Amino acid sequence: MKIAIIGSGGREHALASTISKSSKMKEIFCIPGNAGTSKIATNVQLDINEFDEIHKFINDNSIDLVVIGPEQPLVNGIVDYLEKFNIKVFGPNKIASQLEGSKIFTKKLCQEYNIPTANFGIFENRIDAKKFLENSNYPNVIKADNLAAGKGVYICNSKKESLMAVDEIFDGKFGEAKNVLIEEFLEGEEMSYFIISDGTTIKSFETAQDHKRVLEGDNGKNTGGMGAYSPSRLINNELEDKILSKIIKPTLKGLKNLGTEYKGFLYAGLMIVENEPYLIEYNVRMGDPECQTILPKLKTDLLEIIEACCDKKLADINIEWTNKKSLCVVLCSKGYPDTYQKNILINNLKNFNLDENNFIFHAGTKKENDEIYAIGGRVLNFISLSDNFLQARDEVHQSLKKLDWNGGFYRRDIGFKVIN
Ligand code: AMP
Ligand code: GLY
Repeated sequence: MKIAIIGSGGREHALASTISKSSKMKEIFCIPGNAGTSKIATNVQLDINEFDEIHKFINDNSIDLVVIGPEQPLVNGIVDYLEKFNIKVFGPNKIASQLEGSKIFTKKLCQEYNIPTANFGIFENRIDAKKFLENSNYPNVIKADNLAAGKGVYICNSKKESLMAVDEIFDGKFGEAKNVLIEEFLEGEEMSYFIISDGTTIKSFETAQDHKRVLEGDNGKNTGGMGAYSPSRLINNELEDKILSKIIKPTLKGLKNLGTEYKGFLYAGLMIVENEPYLIEYNVRMGDPECQTILPKLKTDLLEIIEACCDKKLADINIEWTNKKSLCVVLCSKGYPDTYQKNILINNLKNFNLDENNFIFHAGTKKENDEIYAIGGRVLNFISLSDNFLQARDEVHQSLKKLDWNGGFYRRDIGFKVIN
């Protein structure tokens, strides 16, 4: 099969790399891809939000299947657009993608179907929001409704902080704001739970925990994710049953009642409070870096799984995983998540010898004249599989030490809750 993968991050390199191992795979194109994907695929420099151009490329090159990595084109309706031309696409449609595209859409669904989530209020203007804040408890959580790439969420410890957050959101810091969401703060531990769905059948697609803060000890600013480990230390059969029965299944039923269904990966960001799951947010894609952390554990052919999803035959597939622990550390450019330098040469990346338990997935890299340059905030993902998390992290750290690049930094404490 000829496959096109949309996106350019570590998630997409992991998808391309895993798909490249399939016996059904003939050729992969990454739109636009990165230096890592260029080794296993043809990178195609197109804008992922220019659907006409993507359609033309898919047509001209007789692509059999398109896999969408990031949320933006999904929320903008790329699946509906391509399916109109009878193209096979893996990912949810525009309505279903509202689960990530609009926090208010999801909150309303939670309300209607009794899905456990933080108590919340939706406010259409700053006067009403500020009136509510007069009697709010602190900390609270204030969110912009738009896709804000992990930003647009404020944890506020005082009324003063909350008032500022409301102003920043309505002032348009994250794009035009029609609403603001004020939520109760949930105290617990976060976990990512993934499923894959063909619209009728769903299968679990593993668990992970990521480290979103930039500094060790989970301190400092929020980032896209500094590292992750899988499985989550919180998961057990009873909790999984609750996640499925109280959160995932009612959500899919809600979508069905709206006249649609869910095809693709669905990522539930959960807060676990005393073995009870609460939904914090949905993402309509794999996580990044959770995807890089989870896919190395997959034993079943990923292309077969994805194709079965597009053909509504997921029920026929048995998804198998290794029992090993997986840990991923993200190497970032110094300065991330604020400003950082671009176009910095990474010297010896070409010389790494990786084995079946060690992986490097690129994120913000580009290849020029046979050299690899860092061009993004999150640059490389180092993953190791092992019998335990400590050993996995040691392996990752050994690889990172071999890398001759002083423009980067990483957190040395990824997985500290499962290691110390
Ligand atoms: P979101 O974009 O909704 O996932 O929020 C980003 C991060 O803010 C989450 O990963 C949590 O760490 C935190 N967060 C969001 N909502 C809540 C909440 N109601 N209680 C506690 N933490 C929250
Ligand atoms: N790692 C968080 C995310 O992918 O949204």
